[in-house]
Amino acid sequence: QKAITTHDLKQLKAKKEPITMVTAYDYPTAKLIDESGIEMILVGDSLGMVVLGYDTTIPVTLEDMIHHGKAVVRGAKRAFVVVDMPFLTYHLGIKKAVYHAGRIIQETGAKAVKIEGGKEIVPVIQAITQAGIPVVGHIGLTPQSVHQLGGFKVQGKTKEDALKIIEDAKALEAAGVFSIVLEAIPHDLAKLITETVSVPTIGIGAGNACDGQVLVFHDMIQYGLDRSPKFVKIYGQIGEMIKRSISQYKEEVKKRSFPAKEHTFSIQESVLEQLYG
Ligand code: KIV
Ligand code: NA
Repeated sequence: QKAITTHDLKQLKAKKEPITMVTAYDYPTAKLIDESGIEMILVGDSLGMVVLGYDTTIPVTLEDMIHHGKAVVRGAKRAFVVVDMPFLTYHLGIKKAVYHAGRIIQETGAKAVKIEGGKEIVPVIQAITQAGIPVVGHIGLTPQSVHQLGGFKVQGKTKEDALKIIEDAKALEAAGVFSIVLEAIPHDLAKLITETVSVPTIGIGAGNACDGQVLVFHDMIQYGLDRSPKFVKIYGQIGEMIKRSISQYKEEVKKRSFPAKEHTFSIQESVLEQLYG
């Protein structure tokens, strides 16, 4: 089975076949997602919230992303792996941004990076693209700016905000991104952007008109989370399944019914006698 390329993703948009993307942060998850036939895996900086237990994505470091990115790439044989550039790794000048994007690609083996922001990050996107690294844009709700946005809120509801997001999408396309994530914006705005830009749009909380969809793995299977955003559909109750398994283990250990004979090694009677002297 051949690995998915940026060319294949463009073809999917041309054929109007929705692109599927799920986040992963480790080897077994990447392997399961890959084996499910999902085309793209995102090593999102949502890592900070769903795996590392922070309240926002802001504390996530480049080293965190590289560490988890490496594990995901080992598990993904076919899916196209994208790694998020975390907070502060593309804000301190173009050279640093290219260096950090390059380290992500070189050290993890992922094929592309994703960067939050619109017009203001065009020079950074151009430079990273010129270095031969495919870039995914990310506009609408950009969680690294959560404090500036005043919370994890739907974006683009007023005319001014909607126009800004459209302008940002066009600027990103012109800067050379090969795809754009649209997060938490109204359906009709996402549809308009999808019809306006030539690159595939990947929506999360952006309606079904986008060229693709992405969900956070832990959200969609309710793994270790007490609540999820409105736009998440829950496809499985893995957290409950894990708790049931662990509780059963605890009960059986307390009763000494685990380990049972079939989980236990034995020693020959004669050897045992010698041990007892
Ligand atoms: O970090 C992440 O998981 C993301 C997706 C929500 C698009 O950026
Ligand atoms: Na992210």
